[in-house]
Amino acid sequence: MTPPRFVTFEGIDGSGKSTQARLLTDRLRAAGQDVVLTREPGGSPGAEEIRQLLLTGNPDRWTAETEILLFTAARRDHLEKTIQPALDAGKIVISDRFADSTRVYQGATRGDLRGIVDQLHNLMIGREPDLTFVIDMDPATALDRGLARQSGEDRFEDFGLPFQETLRHGFLALANAHRRCVLIDGNRDPDAIASEVAAHL
Ligand code: ADP
Ligand code: TYD
Repeated sequence: MTPPRFVTFEGIDGSGKSTQARLLTDRLRAAGQDVVLTREPGGSPGAEEIRQLLLTGNPDRWTAETEILLFTAARRDHLEKTIQPALDAGKIVISDRFADSTRVYQGATRGDLRGIVDQLHNLMIGREPDLTFVIDMDPATALDRGLARQSGEDRFEDFGLPFQETLRHGFLALANAHRRCVLIDGNRDPDAIASEVAAHL
């Protein structure tokens, strides 16, 4: 079996993805691995510009359909400019979110748009991670954590708690449906979670 080189973290807002992506990156670098840590939306200069459009402003600024187009445009640039070159150079890529976020946030929260998400993904991205950690958390606690950061990028947090509960179910279904996904209990000390994540690798 070849070791996973493209690893993603997924989950609801505030579930601890960024923290775990960073801890895994630190651990792998300490072991001498060449790791690119990146994120979505963003991860390349063009995609970071699209990020600003998506994460600021009123919740009703974009419909879910328009979001699918913008997130996919950002992902295409991220893949072309950051992810694929790093993988081609033999590096490990760790991404804080990728296409599974579009499947859940755009595909399953405001009507069933999953078919459109998958079609556009196949057409413009056509690549899945080797391994995905889905961090599961109580949505109320995660929302408090996320909003406490006051990042100014809270457009999706501003949809409220029921939205986060729908997302949680979406991520659990996704984790069950794909062999590349590992479900992680995020209601624990960050170091305990990091050890479990590292053990899977
Ligand atoms: P995400 O990237 O999923 O939004 P973050 O890693 O940014 O989540 O974490 C959100 C907030 O919660 C941060 O302030 C972070 O320090 C804190 N946090 C992360 N993991 C844990 C944990 N296991 N227990 C308690 N607080 C955490
Ligand atoms: P992120 O910065 O990871 O937010 P958080 O730290 O709160 O988890 O992601 C930004 C937001 O964008 C987050 O609310 C999820 C949303 N998002 C989508 O709706 N679709 C997508 O395809 C991606 C990548 C993110």
